[in-house]
Amino acid sequence: MTLKTATNAHAAPKIDLIIDTDPGADDVVALLFALASPQELNVRALTTVAGNVRLDKTSRNARLAREWAGREEVPVYAGAPKPLVRTPIYAEDIHGKEGLSGIAVYEPGKGLAKGSAIPYLIDTLKSAEPHSITIAMLGPQTNLALALIQEPGIVQGIKEVVVMGGAHFNGGNITPVAEFNLFADPQAAEVVLNSGVKLTYLPLDVTHKILTSEARLNQIAALNNNASRLVGSILNEYIKGDMEHYGLPGGPVHDATVVAYLLKPQLFSGRSVNVVIDSREGPTFGQTIVDWYDGLKAPKNAFWVESGDAQGFFDLLTERLARLK
Ligand code: RIB
Ligand code: CA
Repeated sequence: MTLKTATNAHAAPKIDLIIDTDPGADDVVALLFALASPQELNVRALTTVAGNVRLDKTSRNARLAREWAGREEVPVYAGAPKPLVRTPIYAEDIHGKEGLSGIAVYEPGKGLAKGSAIPYLIDTLKSAEPHSITIAMLGPQTNLALALIQEPGIVQGIKEVVVMGGAHFNGGNITPVAEFNLFADPQAAEVVLNSGVKLTYLPLDVTHKILTSEARLNQIAALNNNASRLVGSILNEYIKGDMEHYGLPGGPVHDATVVAYLLKPQLFSGRSVNVVIDSREGPTFGQTIVDWYDGLKAPKNAFWVESGDAQGFFDLLTERLARLK
């Protein structure tokens, strides 16, 4: 079975995009990356969810990223303050108490949009042109799951859901088998998976192959603009945890790989697989079980990205950050 390399995005029309996020250090890098790419990505809104830190802080941090990108016209809707079923967990040990270690946070000028993210998702996706809107999910999938539960018909407006989450070959980062976004709300991920939407996963299998290095951080720093200084300060702090835990030569920028995939899918490769999510209490809670060799001949319900061009990712990220102030 050959790997299906993602198709060439250059011929693709502009992507109508909603970014669901729990900023979070790597989320902020992803948001700057996406908001610096208006020719390819029409970012309609940011929707926030509790995850790395509590909802008030993920929402403030999303507003900060929007301000730093000079894109304050993009609305930020706050969504779910807690997972569907399980008790909430956070990742302050990795992202800091404010969800953005490495820099001083503050209250941004522009506030949240009126109303919750869930009715925004329902209204937008119900009235959208058929299969016209892409959703990038950078945190626990609670918001989209709640919208699907309340209004299953919103699938009509969804073109594709691209998720940072899960782990198969790599093993987990919050338990031996589970990745944080899935572990934080596996029931929500099951709702999204079972909705039948076109689904692409960028798991730890690929994000742990796209690592920072001194040279890559230097190429960002050499831009010498505000955005590059912010990203440098954020990443220098953020990557410490993974480098230490895994003994890696650099750290992953998990969520930013979703934006690179949308901009340049040819940087990545993977295959259509059957994925099952374990939401049972126990040692495999939150695990994504991937039938990579199709042994069960079960329906393929996701495209699983397993590898990527690390230098190509950092070159693209650097090129886009250069556009910001
Ligand atoms: O496991 C990595 C994921 O969990 C990233 O989205 C990071 O921001 C955290 O939410
Ligand atoms: Ca995240």
